[in-house]
Amino acid sequence: MAVAVSFFFLFLYFSLFFENGEVEANQRVFLCPQSPKVNSIVSKQYRTAYHFQPPKNWINDPNGPMYYKGIYHLFYQYNPNGSLWGNIIWAHSVSTDLINWIRLEPALERTTPSDNNGCWSGSTTILARDRPVVLYTGIDSNNREVQNIAYPVNLTDPYLRKWTKPTYNPLIQPVGDLNSTEFRDPTTGWVGKDGLWRIAVGAELGGKGAAILYKSIDFVHWIRAKDPLHSSSASGVWECPDFYLAVADGDGGETKYVLKMSLRETLMDYYMLGKYDKERDIFVPNNAANDYRLWGRIDFGNFYASKSFFDSQKHRRILFAWSNESDSASDDVAKGWAGIHTIPRTVWLDSSGKQLLQWPIEEVESLRTDEVHLQDIELNTGAVSEVRELKKASQADVEAEFELHSLERAEPLDPNWLLDPQKLCEEQSASAPGGVGPFGLLLLASDDLVEHTAVYFRVYRSQNNYMVLMCSDQRRSSLRPGLYKPTYGGFLDVVDLQKERRISLRTLIDHSVIESFGGGGRGCITARVYPEALCTGSTHLHAFNNGSTTVKILTLKAWNMRKAKINEN
Ligand code: FRU
Repeated sequence: MAVAVSFFFLFLYFSLFFENGEVEANQRVFLCPQSPKVNSIVSKQYRTAYHFQPPKNWINDPNGPMYYKGIYHLFYQYNPNGSLWGNIIWAHSVSTDLINWIRLEPALERTTPSDNNGCWSGSTTILARDRPVVLYTGIDSNNREVQNIAYPVNLTDPYLRKWTKPTYNPLIQPVGDLNSTEFRDPTTGWVGKDGLWRIAVGAELGGKGAAILYKSIDFVHWIRAKDPLHSSSASGVWECPDFYLAVADGDGGETKYVLKMSLRETLMDYYMLGKYDKERDIFVPNNAANDYRLWGRIDFGNFYASKSFFDSQKHRRILFAWSNESDSASDDVAKGWAGIHTIPRTVWLDSSGKQLLQWPIEEVESLRTDEVHLQDIELNTGAVSEVRELKKASQADVEAEFELHSLERAEPLDPNWLLDPQKLCEEQSASAPGGVGPFGLLLLASDDLVEHTAVYFRVYRSQNNYMVLMCSDQRRSSLRPGLYKPTYGGFLDVVDLQKERRISLRTLIDHSVIESFGGGGRGCITARVYPEALCTGSTHLHAFNNGSTTVKILTLKAWNMRKAKINEN
């Protein structure tokens, strides 16, 4: 059964991430640099310089991030034996700034009957008297998903290197109507009005995606609540649920509860905002649409299994996520590594109370160097303007603010498009002429611009408002065959575009990853790309406009990014 589960996962992860299944397992691999035509996937150029990744092997979800006594801890799903998913344990790294990380020994390995087929995702909770604990899903010897606990061996070790599992594991078993192979990823605990602990566990319940609620007096004995925290027939299993209170900026700022779920059927992260009814112990979403395409999206791109924690040092909520490769399994075997984590983001509530905002943590700015500062660049129809001042366009942080001269030519919005912005981005590509937009940036572009990733906006007019479409188009990101090169996109709820007439774009470029933040963090898109130009030549940054309305870059700041020290020890 373990084998069946692993194959299922591999099939799922990779079938979705292949274009035509055209990659052959016995493909020959050459070391870069050679001629532009060779298979250069094993080039070190595709490893990131300031994103989290271990020196080798497969990683997926971030697990149990926490701040404890001056140290940030990050655990993660890791295959110690190879670069495909399998043999999953909890690897462990620590940091004082969330950017530079020290690699420690694995925290949880497959050593007991309640986890000998895998130590899957989970969370940390800091109990009374400053005692951190881990709750995680174990795949037991019968291949059932059970919930286990682990404790640090020595609380005086600042790195909490060693973890121990009590013999009374598992704490929670998949009994009754629970499906034993769709029951995982316990949340961080919280305390209810009655003083009891609560956690939620992701599940599929009678064909619905669900966050099952459990209560406990001592964090060891758990009783299932009558109702799930929330469930929906709009999707199948919910993985990696996350539940927390989001706060708007400023004193007395609005608050809303957030329920985040990772949908395995789409491999995307969704969220709902709402109230937590503490009497009935249920989450009541503001928008309970029975169609997940209408739920909030944490990121429109290659971004999954996100996990947040409250940083008590800086009073902010921070979110990590996994970004999978979009090359093939044989490429990953050849590379010897697969998977990265996104740059940690602060997440908070927009003052309208209608959506979450996200922004890369301020610490990443400590890596900035060689600032480029441009102002007032007019982009007329058809303009492509290179930012030549940026020395290394493959390891950069770019912040641009676009001003729209007029919104008059904004094209009308067909409301049906709201359900499938990704398709709209595909059809209305960066080179398809528009009214207001497409305008934006061409990233990781080759000398001749044949390779590039376009991140751009198009403005549409709806009944009494304007809607901004944000896209990241990877179709021309690489000449290499056999890659998954999708177009991602979503609509941004930009406040009063008519008055402001400004849209901002921040992009973190790091070799094989591009993380983009539109409208001050109202829409985020993470993409994985493997340009040949990274190995065979140089890459460039351009701004462009293919709309019929002139757009001005009010300011464009760009920095090269220094390499972070990540798991180098
Ligand atoms: C999400 C997930 C979790 C599971 C883990 C296994 O990517 O499938 O539901 O616990 O990965 O590695």
